[in-house]
Amino acid sequence: MTDASLVNRYRSLAARVYAADKPIGRSFGDVELYAALLRGTEGPVFEPAAGNGRVLVPLAEAGLEMIGTDPSEDMLDRCRAACEARGLRAELSVGTFDSIDQAGEYAAIIIPAGSIQLVLDPAATRAIAEGFLRALRPGGRFILDLDSLHALAETDPWARSWQDGEDLLTLSAVSESVDVSAQTTVSQLRYERWHGGALAETELEQFALRLWGVNEMRLLLEAVGFAEVRVHADYTRDAAATSATRVVTLEAFKRA
Ligand SMILES: C[S@@+](CC[C@H](N)C(=O)[O-])C[C@H]1O[C@@H](n2cnc3c(N)ncnc32)[C@H](O)[C@@H]1O
Repeated sequence: MTDASLVNRYRSLAARVYAADKPIGRSFGDVELYAALLRGTEGPVFEPAAGNGRVLVPLAEAGLEMIGTDPSEDMLDRCRAACEARGLRAELSVGTFDSIDQAGEYAAIIIPAGSIQLVLDPAATRAIAEGFLRALRPGGRFILDLDSLHALAETDPWARSWQDGEDLLTLSAVSESVDVSAQTTVSQLRYERWHGGALAETELEQFALRLWGVNEMRLLLEAVGFAEVRVHADYTRDAAATSATRVVTLEAFKRA
């Protein structure tokens, strides 16, 4: 049973754990691949779900004109602070995938880290892709990551912790449900902050994902009108996806 007020919210403690685990400068190979794919791009690059700026900040540092949105003020505050600390000018505001500026004329729209999977309704994902196509300039690109379908079977509980100043931050995850027909998973993420041996703060998030097959997403992108879709497996440019692939990056081109 999910409660909308708990689903994929990335509130204050979650944002703090995200920053401890995935600070600016942390890459899974994605920052390098996105930088390589976007090198030389002229014009605005839009990143919805920009989060703490883990990807947005290095791309802005590389000279790209970055525009970012995120529904979580807590995540966005960290992105703002990171940009300010580096003297970077990036346009940042609160927004979701479906609140894109249709007059944006973007050169590229990027969604790294598999964040498109946070949209649970495939019809909504299709509408988002249609909106992105309209908001791209001719020849513009939509670049996104997907986790492999292995994730549907990865239901073992896990726990991690980080020392953050005087606090110990912990995160434990338990699978709540998997629907293989709908390709959705729901996990309970319990965030805790411990201080001086006592529990000081806790947050519960229901982390829900809708996973996509690589060909399923390619067909969706082609069906809404993208002219060509390239695949890069495990953050290696032009590498073909295999049954061992963990992450695919799709690069969809709007007709020039
Ligand atoms: C895994 S983080 C990704 C952050 C950053 N892009 C990165 O690569 O590290 C996912 C982000 O998606 C945001 N998010 C959740 N639901 C969303 C939605 N419906 N539309 C846009 N962003 C959403 C969260 O607030 C969170 O900051």
